[in-house]
Amino acid sequence: MAKNNYIKSPLNYLGNKYKLLPQMLELYPNNINTFYDLFCGGLDVSINVKANTIVANDKHKDLIWLLNEIKNYKGMLGDELLRLDKTVFPMNWNGGKALNTYIRNSYKEDKALRSFNNPNEREIWQKLMNEKREVFYKLRTKFNESQDKDFKTLLLLMLNTVGTIEFRVVDGYCTYTCGNNRVNPKLKNNLNIFPQKIKEIELSNNDFRYYYDIKYHENDFVYIDPPYLGTTQYKIKWNNEDELELYKFIDYLDSMGVKFALSNFEDGVNHTNAYLKENVGKYNIHKLTDNHSNLTGISKKGKRQEILVTNY
Ligand SMILES: C[S@@+](CC[C@H](N)C(=O)[O-])C[C@H]1O[C@@H](n2cnc3c(N)ncnc32)[C@H](O)[C@@H]1O
Repeated sequence: MAKNNYIKSPLNYLGNKYKLLPQMLELYPNNINTFYDLFCGGLDVSINVKANTIVANDKHKDLIWLLNEIKNYKGMLGDELLRLDKTVFPMNWNGGKALNTYIRNSYKEDKALRSFNNPNEREIWQKLMNEKREVFYKLRTKFNESQDKDFKTLLLLMLNTVGTIEFRVVDGYCTYTCGNNRVNPKLKNNLNIFPQKIKEIELSNNDFRYYYDIKYHENDFVYIDPPYLGTTQYKIKWNNEDELELYKFIDYLDSMGVKFALSNFEDGVNHTNAYLKENVGKYNIHKLTDNHSNLTGISKKGKRQEILVTNY
């Protein structure tokens, strides 16, 4: 597979398409007028696509709030986040190498613990992890209580980086749990560039059905990356009704002569999506090399076939 030189969203969003970008962008039309990213998540696609105008939409209000805050942030977010990390999590930096060596999700802590051969190392790791957890939950409380927008932005980025992978904020209330990750220099660099990239993007907070009612122009292109039915749920739940409505929507776009691309996957070991099979047969189905492993229940060894459905 081609090497990926694209910009990575610092949100590390669940279900992001960063790794699939080289294959997907190759299949996108040339000369896009307005690019509509209807399920934009952490913006991995929107920040890397070339188009005259880019509209990124997601129904998750708090996510769009954060993206807008980042967009308007004055200052070097990456530098500030790294500084904050060093101040509040000294255990990350001071002999704490074990903390980020193991799996990010705290529910896998057992596995991390078992992997230490030396009991002293295990003890140190446990002690540092406990200290880290204590700080983490204090920060979470601060986020939930603070009114200072800039401070909240930094805190949320911190909780998102260190915490569980899913974006866990609803109506301004954050429920991340502590994980093993940390702010590192690579993330810092991404975060310094990211606000500049978002400035070029128009952010919108709507259900995808809103995009029935807009006026499309020649060479507009709609990218659709919905939650995959039957896999990990986002905070914004996705059900059978949404799935079926989405197939009506792509048929509508097609009838209006608007080009679209829809991400999804063909049946995997643990999942099946009968609706997809019934509804996309008339379009082109491109099989992508599957290297996407951060969704629960899906094998790391590519046992699921990631696809891109297009009407062109
Ligand atoms: C697979 S993720 C998108 C990932 C994104 N393409 C990326 O690269 O980060 C699906 C997104 O759909 C959003 N979503 C769920 N239901 C929606 C709806 N009815 N309308 C618009 N967005 C929705 C979720 O909040 C989630 O961010």
